[in-house]
Amino acid sequence: MTERRQRVLSGMRPTGKLHLGNYLGALDNWVKLQEDYDCFYFVANWHALTTDYAHAGEIPENTVEMLADWLGAGLSPERSTLFVQSLVPEHAELHLLFSMIIPVSWLERVPTYKEMIEQLELQSPSYGLLGYPLLQAADILMYKPRYVPVGVDQLPHIELTREVARRFSNAFGPVFPEPEAKLTEIPKVPGTDGRKMSKSYGNAIYLSDPPEILTPKIKTMMTDPARKRRSDPGNPDVCPVFDLHKIFTPDAPRQACATGCRTAGIGCLDCKGVLLEHLLTPLGAIRERRQKFMEKPKEITEILREGSKNARRVAQATMAEVRRAVGLAL
Ligand code: TRP
Ligand code: SF4
Repeated sequence: MTERRQRVLSGMRPTGKLHLGNYLGALDNWVKLQEDYDCFYFVANWHALTTDYAHAGEIPENTVEMLADWLGAGLSPERSTLFVQSLVPEHAELHLLFSMIIPVSWLERVPTYKEMIEQLELQSPSYGLLGYPLLQAADILMYKPRYVPVGVDQLPHIELTREVARRFSNAFGPVFPEPEAKLTEIPKVPGTDGRKMSKSYGNAIYLSDPPEILTPKIKTMMTDPARKRRSDPGNPDVCPVFDLHKIFTPDAPRQACATGCRTAGIGCLDCKGVLLEHLLTPLGAIRERRQKFMEKPKEITEILREGSKNARRVAQATMAEVRRAVGLAL
């Protein structure tokens, strides 16, 4: 008996190579979901244009780098459908139809819209930026997934997606079941300067960092600022290095580090050495797999073309249903 697995869908904008924060906040979870769900993961390259069309030329390279990270981390085209948004143009058609039934005020209320305008100091935000979450709703509803794994920052977009599904049903009949957000438990991932890890802060540890880059990044990483000398006791609870220990180091050696820190029994370099022992191996495995794919970028584009073909089959079936429901089928 074949039991249909529940579907999961998520996407990422192709902003380039991924760092540890992206991995622990999303990708690692995507990989695990492959065990139990029928997973669709896609490259949101149209979404990448909403704030940065001036750098559109970097999208192809960023897509390849990001896919190398996906595959290196363990996403597999045999188990999941890996595809590219723009290779499934049905997303644009569905977005257009949604745009006919969704009030502008709903989109103006989405918090990420206001945040983007403030952050980027946009004088005249584009139509596409306003429509960003509506395109996202089309991305999602097209595949009728049960779950959408995202971080909390995306919750307003999932809520809007559910409202779009409801409004569409009221207008044209029940085509889209309401998906649910599957919140990813995100551990605190500090960057090398102790602030939240972010590409724009220049404090990131990348999945592509080889040991000769990774090791000095850890060795110079910010620690408990009150621990100035080797003889000063420290406090792991306020130390960003220790936040990484919590993610990577098993209990016994981690507790030994904590005790050594509080009693000034060990120095920060010793402590970082223990972290590196537990960090280098898992990250090395990802990096080596990613490296193999980077050497064969054609294989990456082949995976995406094939995946997009499969995604498109699903999208075309949905759109046939949608056109019939709306009254556009002849
Ligand atoms: N907005 C998402 C982000 O910035 C990316 C995205 C686009 C997405 N379409 C999606 C995520 C559909 C989940 C489902 O992270
Ligand atoms: Fe941080 Fe470890 Fe130094 Fe303590 S010993 S301050 S936990 S790096």
